[in-house]
Amino acid sequence: MELSITTLTRRKNGSIGRREEKKTCEALRIGRDTKDELFLPDHRIPYNLATLHPGEDGFFIEAEGNNDLRLNEQIVQKAPVTIDDIIGIGPYELKLVEPEDGIDLAVTVELIHPVGDDVEELLSRSNLSINNAGFSKRALSWTLGLSILVLFLVLPILDGTYNIFRSSVPTQNEENQANTMFTKNEVTFDFSWHTGEVMDAHKFFANDCEACHTKPFIMVEDQACLSCHQKTHAHLDVAKFTNPDLNSTRCASCHTDHQGPEPLRASQQALCSDCHTNLEAIAKGTKLINASDFGLNHPQFKPTVWIDASAGKQARISLDEIPKENSNLKFPHDVHLIAERMRNPSTGKQEQLDCASCHAPDMSKQFFKPVNMEEHCGDCHILSFDPNKPERLVPHASAATVQREVKEYFSDLALSGNIDEKAAPASLRRRPGSQLTKTQRLEALEWANEKTEQATNYLFSASQCGVCHQLQRKSDKTAEYRVETVSVTNIWQPLSVFNHEAHADASCESCHAAEQSSTSSDVLLPKIESCRDCHGGQLTSDKIPSTCISCHVFHNDKLALMSPTTGE
Ligand code: HEC
Ligand code: HEC
Ligand code: HEC
Ligand code: HEC
Ligand code: HEC
Ligand code: HEC
Ligand code: HEC
Ligand code: HEC
Ligand code: HEC
Ligand code: HEC
Repeated sequence: MELSITTLTRRKNGSIGRREEKKTCEALRIGRDTKDELFLPDHRIPYNLATLHPGEDGFFIEAEGNNDLRLNEQIVQKAPVTIDDIIGIGPYELKLVEPEDGIDLAVTVELIHPVGDDVEELLSRSNLSINNAGFSKRALSWTLGLSILVLFLVLPILDGTYNIFRSSVPTQNEENQANTMFTKNEVTFDFSWHTGEVMDAHKFFANDCEACHTKPFIMVEDQACLSCHQKTHAHLDVAKFTNPDLNSTRCASCHTDHQGPEPLRASQQALCSDCHTNLEAIAKGTKLINASDFGLNHPQFKPTVWIDASAGKQARISLDEIPKENSNLKFPHDVHLIAERMRNPSTGKQEQLDCASCHAPDMSKQFFKPVNMEEHCGDCHILSFDPNKPERLVPHASAATVQREVKEYFSDLALSGNIDEKAAPASLRRRPGSQLTKTQRLEALEWANEKTEQATNYLFSASQCGVCHQLQRKSDKTAEYRVETVSVTNIWQPLSVFNHEAHADASCESCHAAEQSSTSSDVLLPKIESCRDCHGGQLTSDKIPSTCISCHVFHNDKLALMSPTTGE
């Protein structure tokens, strides 16, 4: 059918605007769906509200779903309609009018109750304009403008020049007044000019504004800071990452001064996540994984482990991939923590070892002193070598030293005599001090060599040095041994800073599963999940809010010094 829709708009002066639209369609769908032939944009109208159909004897209108219609002020669901009928649809009124030639159906639409109506009525009853309140706009502007001038310019100048508002008693440190907003307990009028206190470390030159503000109307330049801070290290290797954007972060963007006595240290994680949310985008070729919030987006830790200590090879391996350390030192934590299995051979008594028996805090209390053979193992693992004199020990030293010591020991013994060993040649079991014949000497040395070899074989076996060490035998003939390099890691996660002292209240076992570890190749470090029990990102509400600098530094001592990024 051919359709004509005329939209009526009633203007303020009473005249009526008309806009006609012609359409060809099967039925006239009405609603707020853009597919509707009669599209009514008011948000109070549902999508597909009703449809006007051609029927056998004229047109009829039918509401869709549960919607209601008003036909000549009567609520209807479905009804026949003819010319001059008025259909009310929400705030609109739809009227059937006499169609022109060639048109099957003609309607006019008018928005009778626009949304604004109620609001406007409310506004007309309220006094919101300044004029209505009895002020003139001009007078008010002048009053406010002048008070700003007086409060923030005239009074401060008078105050600063003549001290008229201050007490006449001079303060003790007149010099430092520029840094403090308040002198004693009184407010001075030039407080509005104060930029805020500079950090304590900078107080000694705080009044020398030009030390930092080198050029007027230009933000503090890095050059100014670097002229004093010549030892500040860079954050990234500028030779490797050449993107100029990487070097555009100004010192002052992290170290905004005038913020009080504490040095401000980029505690906002945004200062770091700016780059670290998508590092690859600005630092091509980086191998670092992205991080933007400790609680929500931070990679699993990747400790640096010795994958082959003999070859000096280290690698960063994620704790999710269960890294294995190859330090060349054997040590099962589990048996050493069971008292029944720890019988001290010298005393014969059982001993209950605990973590502190071997791991004593170092000076900083952040970490532990390295484990030391003599101090921590030597009481039980005794380096004896002569079954006749078990109290006689070799020093815990290099294989060569140990062999030399053993050899010297037996040679001395043979040459000095006084050996009570039954199997030793008679000449060696003589009275000490008596002279030896040449044959006796040779006999003695031969005995010493034999004993040395026996003792060395015993020492460098699985029951002595070999208990703890990986050993290499250089050549069978000379019986020379080598102890493989021992590399016990002290700093496992060098990219971050951990502090044991801050966790003194937590048990060692809550982070290190040492009691379950039967080999030193286990890496006994806690995963990120266990830290997240207590630490969250900056905005966490139920954990310790930890920003990047709780665990990381910015200036990296391993890198070159910072170079100025601004200035000539
Ligand atoms: C230790 C260096 C240092 C000294 C000394 C110093 N300022 Fe600042 N000042 C800064 C830094 C850093 C900012 C932060 C603005 C930026 O990003 O460049 C700043 C900001 C300001 C601002 C605000 C401008 C802005 O960008 O927000 C004013 C005003 C200002 N300083 C005035 C002074 C005056 C006056 C003195 C001397 C009494 C002074 N400063 C001494 C380092 C200093
Ligand atoms: C006139 C020399 C001088 C200038 C200029 C200067 N500083 Fe300092 N700053 C010092 C001294 C001295 C200290 C205290 C010793 C130290 O920690 O190095 C210090 C300390 C600091 C500290 C550490 C505070 C602490 O307690 O650990 C920061 C951060 C710092 N300055 C940043 C800046 C920045 C950023 C600028 C440039 C806006 C700047 N400094 C300009 C001399 C200067
Ligand atoms: C201007 C960009 C940028 C900003 C800002 C930035 N970083 Fe970095 N960061 C880098 C780049 C580039 C590297 C080096 C990537 C590499 O070596 O593969 C890096 C490396 C690191 C590393 C690894 C260090 C190492 O020893 O290898 C850590 C951790 C880190 N950033 C933390 C931070 C923290 C914390 C902050 C905020 C105080 C911060 N970053 C701010 C770009 C940035
Ligand atoms: C008898 C001495 C001894 C005792 C007791 C001992 N350790 Fe160790 N610990 C070592 C030695 C040796 C190493 C280095 C070899 C190794 O990596 O296993 C070590 C290494 C570690 C490491 C480094 C990470 C690793 O995977 O190697 C942690 C963590 C550790 N011990 C925790 C503990 C805890 C927790 C306890 C108490 C439950 C404990 N240790 C008790 C001797 C001891
Ligand atoms: C309190 C005495 C005592 C101390 C201290 C001690 N150990 Fe032991 N260790 C023993 C005893 C006892 C055994 C035998 C345990 C068993 O097999 O039941 C043993 C066994 C071992 C083994 C061999 C385990 C096996 O499965 O063959 C190694 C390796 C070892 N200890 C290394 C060390 C190291 C390294 C230290 C010092 C960091 C150390 N021990 C400190 C008493 C001790
Ligand atoms: C009970 C275990 C144990 C026994 C037995 C033992 N050591 Fe060690 N050794 C260690 C530990 C732990 C270290 C690392 C800490 C230290 O230097 O004290 C070490 C370190 C060494 C080192 C230094 C290696 C390096 O790369 O820095 C040498 C050399 C060495 N031992 C030689 C020997 C010799 C030779 C013997 C036998 C006579 C021996 N050790 C027996 C535990 C043992
Ligand atoms: C509660 C401590 C903690 C907080 C908070 C933290 N980190 Fe880490 N982060 C670590 C530890 C631990 C590692 C592992 C270090 C290592 O492997 O040497 C690490 C590793 C990283 C790495 C190296 C990623 C890789 O490739 O393995 C980056 C980059 C990093 N952190 C950036 C950040 C940034 C940026 C923030 C702030 C949004 C942040 N971290 C907050 C503890 C923390
Ligand atoms: C909150 C968890 C946590 C607790 C509790 C904890 N540690 Fe650790 N520990 C760590 C982390 C993380 C590292 C790795 C730090 C690094 O090297 O970067 C570490 C490293 C170590 C190391 C190897 C590094 C070194 O200094 O030799 C030893 C040993 C160690 N811890 C022993 C202990 C002992 C003993 C206790 C109990 C007194 C303890 N830890 C309590 C988390 C913890
Ligand atoms: C049982 C709760 C708990 C767990 C688990 C825990 N921490 Fe903490 N951590 C704390 C508390 C409490 C502090 C002290 C907070 C403070 O002083 O503001 C702290 C402080 C720290 C600090 C800052 C130390 C300083 O010098 O300011 C670092 C870094 C840190 N934790 C890292 C870690 C890492 C990494 C892990 C996981 C291996 C971890 N924490 C697991 C409770 C925990
Ligand atoms: C992305 C933020 C950031 C920027 C940019 C930055 N710093 Fe820092 N700065 C830090 C943080 C975080 C610390 C706290 C210690 C650390 O992480 O090394 C710090 C510490 C310092 C310290 C205290 C001494 C120390 O090493 O602990 C000085 C001095 C300093 N910065 C100077 C500068 C200077 C000069 C510049 C500009 C050339 C600069 N910083 C740029 C974040 C930043």
